[in-house]
Formats: sequence, C-alpha cells, structure tokens
Amino acid sequence: MSNPQTIGVLFVCLGNICRSPTAHGVFESLVAERGLARSIRVDSCGTGDWHVGHPPDRRAAAEARRRGYDLDHLRARQVEPADFDRFHYILAMDRMNLADLESMRPSRFDGHLGLFLAFAPASGVAEVPDPYYGGDTGFSRVLDLVEAASVGLLEEIRIAHALR
Ligand code: 4NP
Repeated sequence: MSNPQTIGVLFVCLGNICRSPTAHGVFESLVAERGLARSIRVDSCGTGDWHVGHPPDRRAAAEARRRGYDLDHLRARQVEPADFDRFHYILAMDRMNLADLESMRPSRFDGHLGLFLAFAPASGVAEVPDPYYGGDTGFSRVLDLVEAASVGLLEEIRIAHALR
C-alpha cells in the first residue's frame, strides 16, 4: 500500500467485469467529489479468474457512462490473500462472493468483510443481482443499487474514521 494512512476499500464480485468494477467507478467518483481521494483508496476484483486482464463488460461500461462514470481504465483481477492485508473494507456483491471471501479470510484480518448492500438498507435487497446473463435493464438496476450503497458506505467510513 502506498500510503498506510489511507483507508482501503475493495469491491468483490464473481468476474470483476460487471458489478464490482461498477462499484469501483461509482465509489471512486464519489470519494473524489467529496475531496477524500487522498484518504480512501478504491479497488475491485473477482473471486473467479475467467476474465483476468479484461476491461469491464461493454454493457456495464455503457450504463456507467450514461450516468457519468468512466470504467474504461479498469482491468479485472482475481482476489488474492494479500488483499486482506491491504484493505480495511472488503465488500461482496452477493452471498456466494461473501462465502468465498469468508473461506479465505485470515484470522488476523480485523477489517470489515460483508455485503455491500448492507449500506443501502432502504433498497430492501441484500445482494446486487448478477446482470451478466440478463438484459440491459439488469445493468441499470446494478447502477441504482451501487449508487445508493456508495452513499451509505462513504457516510459510514467518514463517521468511523472521523473524516470530514
Ligand atoms: P460480475 O458478472 O461477477 O458482476 O462481474 C459476471 C461476469 C462473468 C461471469 C459471471 C458473472 N462469468 O460466468 O463469466
């Protein structure tokens, strides 16, 4: 980690080409907008390795662009054990991702590992639905959920770490 003072936030899904890069782009944009880019580092990865090195899914990137987020610079990578040393918040898109992460979690990890949508309680859903095999409306739904949870997550981090 470049600056040990920074708070690391890692978004995790299955392929790291649809949901978690969307969360990465949206949350990073929110952090920058609030002037917190020097305090919070954002990254994303997948539990699977099928898409390692690939850019985000074209449909995810298009929906993000429609809402003003640029995902084009992102490339998929797979989660690795060292992520538990580098990130304070590890946020899973669904329960399957969370179970995979729980199975890797070292006992020394004292950060927060949980579902991302826990930070969007008003959404009424616990998981970001996987849009990969569905139609384009799935990607819009992902953006809605991710935008809501990003606001809640940033508020939580600001309170927990006394950021202004
Ligand atoms: P993601 O979506 O986990 O939101 O990136 C998926 C992408 C690819 C696959 C599954 C889900 N896949 O099976 O290749």
